[in-house]
Amino acid sequence: MLGRLVLIDAGPLKPLGAIMRPRVFVTRPLPTPTLDLLRSQCDLELHQEDTPIAPAQLAEICAARRIEGLMACGARVTEQVVDSAAQLRVVSNVGVGYDNVDVAACTLRRIPVTNTAGVLEETTADLAFALLMAAARRLVEGDRYVREGRWQQWQWSLLWGADIHHQTLGIYGFGNIGKAMSRRGRGFSMRILYHSRRRADAAVEAELGATFVDRDTLFRESDFVSLHVALTPETHHLVTARELSLMKPTAFLINTTRGKVVDEEALAAALASHQIAGAGLDVFEQEPHVHPALARLPNVVLAPHIGSATTATRSRMAALAAENLLEVLAGRRPRYVVNPEVYS
Ligand code: DGY
Repeated sequence: MLGRLVLIDAGPLKPLGAIMRPRVFVTRPLPTPTLDLLRSQCDLELHQEDTPIAPAQLAEICAARRIEGLMACGARVTEQVVDSAAQLRVVSNVGVGYDNVDVAACTLRRIPVTNTAGVLEETTADLAFALLMAAARRLVEGDRYVREGRWQQWQWSLLWGADIHHQTLGIYGFGNIGKAMSRRGRGFSMRILYHSRRRADAAVEAELGATFVDRDTLFRESDFVSLHVALTPETHHLVTARELSLMKPTAFLINTTRGKVVDEEALAAALASHQIAGAGLDVFEQEPHVHPALARLPNVVLAPHIGSATTATRSRMAALAAENLLEVLAGRRPRYVVNPEVYS
């Protein structure tokens, strides 16, 4: 039972042994040039709705349609999916974070998992910096104030926020997005601190004007803490009541990585009691559910997981995911593989 799934180019399954093009399933309606490219080389089937497809349904499709290439966009590729897809040769994730994919299950089957690194970092850093600015300068509160017709006259004391320039920006996670964030901070004459599992080369630190500190120093000294770590068992609830208690009462927390990196309950309490000044969040623990306490607070800016959502970047992500998928199906090693051990 394929439920509400809409298939295109599906056609009847050719008998095994016949010369066939690889069978590919795409979990969202991606841009037309990407779908056209896939159609030119594969038998393409598509979930035509921009809604998440349940793992059980995905497993059923992969088994029934003998899918070899799976392009996962906002879809969970669980062990059940991997196990049911006997012909699966590649999982191409449309996104840089791949916590939605059971990579271990893929690796066991020697199935490469690919991601779209290298095309969305600057755009995601733009959004992180936009959240930082919006939270510090109370932009959303100001917008609401004007729209609600409450603005009657210029007021000296209206909506005072926090300075950004010359403040300290603490970056937790110094991969490509963290580094892109530090460049934005430098543009605002900020002092840049960072913490990361691995310290960057001295040349990189010098170029970015970034100083490596331990985690507690980062939380203690920063006026803005911006999170840029991938979600792993080690980074789950990296920010708890303890880390929030280290932060200055004037400081802000920015999260554009994954919601589960932050204990949302603790964050809501810290914001409500003004233990910290504010937050800017693009990601949540149980998306699309937002903790009701967060949704009530004026000192947090909320966005619906749109870090990479620009026309140019989403198009590049789709194109790169297609390239990764086609490379594997053609028997070549793709540019971005997250479980390289499958090639050893
Ligand atoms: C990413 O690329 O990881 C974005 O958050 C989309 O999931």
